Amino acid sequence: MTSRSEIRFVLNGQDITLDQVAADETLLDFLRIDRRLTGTKEGCAEGDCGACTVLVGRLQAGALHYEPVNACIRLLASVDACHVVTIEHLSGPGGQLHPVQQAMVDHHASQCGFCTPGIVMSLYALWMENPAPLEIEIETALQGNLCRCTGYEPILRAAQAASDLGSPTGDALNRERNHMTGRLKALCDGRRVDVRKGTSRAILPASVDDLAEVLLAHPEATIVAGATDVGLWVTKFLQEISPVVFLNHLEGLRRIEVGPDGIKIGAGVSYTDSRAVLTAGYPHLAAFWDRIAGWQIRAMGTVGGNLANGSPIGDTPPVLIALGASLTLRKGADRRRLPVEDFFIDYGKQDLAPGEFLESIHVPQSKKGTRHAAYKISKRRDEDISAVCAAFNLTVEDGTITAARIAFGGMAATPKRAAHAEAALIGQPWDEATLMQAAACLDDDFSPLTDWRASAAYRLQVSKNLFRRFWLEQQGTGQPVRLSA
Ligand SMILES: Cc1cc2nc3c(=O)[nH]c(=O)nc-3n(C[C@H](O)[C@H](O)[C@H](O)COP(=O)(O)OP(=O)(O)OC[C@H]3O[C@@H](n4cnc5c(N)ncnc54)[C@H](O)[C@@H]3O)c2cc1C
Ligand code: FES
Ligand code: FES
Repeated sequence: MTSRSEIRFVLNGQDITLDQVAADETLLDFLRIDRRLTGTKEGCAEGDCGACTVLVGRLQAGALHYEPVNACIRLLASVDACHVVTIEHLSGPGGQLHPVQQAMVDHHASQCGFCTPGIVMSLYALWMENPAPLEIEIETALQGNLCRCTGYEPILRAAQAASDLGSPTGDALNRERNHMTGRLKALCDGRRVDVRKGTSRAILPASVDDLAEVLLAHPEATIVAGATDVGLWVTKFLQEISPVVFLNHLEGLRRIEVGPDGIKIGAGVSYTDSRAVLTAGYPHLAAFWDRIAGWQIRAMGTVGGNLANGSPIGDTPPVLIALGASLTLRKGADRRRLPVEDFFIDYGKQDLAPGEFLESIHVPQSKKGTRHAAYKISKRRDEDISAVCAAFNLTVEDGTITAARIAFGGMAATPKRAAHAEAALIGQPWDEATLMQAAACLDDDFSPLTDWRASAAYRLQVSKNLFRRFWLEQQGTGQPVRLSA
């Protein structure tokens, strides 16, 4: 396999080639320290505040697609063959303020201004995608942007007014789309990228087969997909991660296939890109998916990374376990498949051998007669990690529960099925009494921990309450049910 020892990308309008890149160098440090593009701010350095939001454009199946990302945890080497757009690149047709910026001024949507470049970039991404957004769509786009002083009302008004000041069709990124697509295509030369700085090393394999080969040769390497976990190992824990092997630039891992057996999601597919296909089959996941992190993290983070990190409080494992999903793991040319629930062995221990990687996730098609729900309990509605996560999948035939898969996160050292509760449901009538009897069995299923997200008693109580909520929501209103104390 021929390789090149430099990364190449476009920054705003400029071609960049770097032959010295450390595996742990962030895009934000490169922008601010190396290029003095200080419009992009550093607030939290952990993907939470959105002050560092930039757009990254990349080719997907030949088409150029831009998404907002947190530059603070995006690793620089991963922008190979991408177009990075910072706040400095925004301008109106005649060089004046961009419509989104002008709307922010007109609606007094900035005070100290620290969050403003990040908010402008998120609203810019929204305006490009959806020039007439509903209020809920603006709120969803801003989940990953914190403003501590202005308050969100003026920002919402600015978002609604931006299209009165200009249309996305005339925007520079759209006008130059064909030209930029050509520039990025020219950067995709099909070679492995192997770039170093001192002893630090980052590898971008050329294909999925090449990834398998690289990991066999470097089983000690840190695999990086969206870096929404790994980025924090760097910025918060100052961990050494070299050598790093990136994977989510690989088209072969970014594919979604739908067939008679179900949905196959490549390990490089982001939360954002997996939403449409999953919610088509399982509409109950729509609201749940929008509760995962904020827009930037959903655009970067992968479902594969959410599984592979083995966290007991990740949001997708309980959902996938309840749906009966399975994984394909690959080492070299060898592949094996296992149910998602068997992947989690113990806290921090997954069934993944050195040199092996998660290649794809398989979600079965929805079956007739099944009843689903997924719940996330967290202190904040937006951009927060679960205290408890629960997913229900019950089959009801002729008024009797014939199958049950119920999985919880935050209740044990791993995401785990509620085996006693499931057993208490099967063969029983589909009614509230059955559900509440099953809820009582959670005492046998789980001994949760007390930590700063929730006490053990709260976790158990809220989990039992979710059985009641599930029952009430299944009674035909289709509306979320909230219980008062
Ligand atoms: C601000 C913020 C908010 C967040 N909110 C949520 C939330 O609401 N819910 C939630 O569940 N999570 C949340 N997270 C955590 C994070 O987004 C997820 O865990 C994410 O899915 C990780 O995916 P990634 O692609 O970024 O993984 P990475 O960070 O790239 O990798 C994570 C781990 O998985 C390994 N890995 C990745 N891909 C593979 C593969 N294909 N094969 C083998 N190993 C692999 C890596 O080596 C690493 O150990 C949040 C994170 C941040 C920073
Ligand atoms: S600096 Fe806060 S999200 Fe990046
Ligand atoms: S204007 Fe000050 S943080 Fe938003």
